[in-house]
Amino acid sequence: PSERLWWKHPLDRVEGIWIAISFIWCMVMFFMMVFWHIYGKQNLATETYKTTPEKFTAQTQAAVDKWTVRTETEQKVPVVAPPEGADVYMIGRLWNWWPILELEKGKTYKLHLTSMDYNHGFSLQPTNINIQVVPGYEHVIKVTPNESGTFSVICNEYCGIGHHEMLGRIYVK
Ligand code: CUA
Repeated sequence: PSERLWWKHPLDRVEGIWIAISFIWCMVMFFMMVFWHIYGKQNLATETYKTTPEKFTAQTQAAVDKWTVRTETEQKVPVVAPPEGADVYMIGRLWNWWPILELEKGKTYKLHLTSMDYNHGFSLQPTNINIQVVPGYEHVIKVTPNESGTFSVICNEYCGIGHHEMLGRIYVK
């Protein structure tokens, strides 16, 4: 009966071919992933640090107090125009990005992002900047706007009933 054990059966030729095909395909997919990651520059260079909602709110409020130039919309959202090289903060929460930023073309800023509650997305339209923003962490990106205009931030991590209304705004002068 020992020759009935499955591991003692000789490999059928068709079986062998299919095993080889699936193995090769696994390797193709694996190397595509590796090459896209390394050479395709698919991942934005962000630094991530731990933070708390209290700490981040205090930092954001300090920037708002210092650099607000006006308020906008019915909700009186402050428009913050920080100086070149400044640390600028945006809070993602149910359901908005706060405050509005006003940056200058050609100048570099350090943009800090966090979430106060759940996972949110920071997708800057119409660029390809797209970050998943996780509560408890701040994501820091160096930004140098190279085009003026009004840019919308949309949330692309589903975050509940107001997800589609979760918008932010960045002006570039
Ligand atoms: Cu925030 Cu979807």
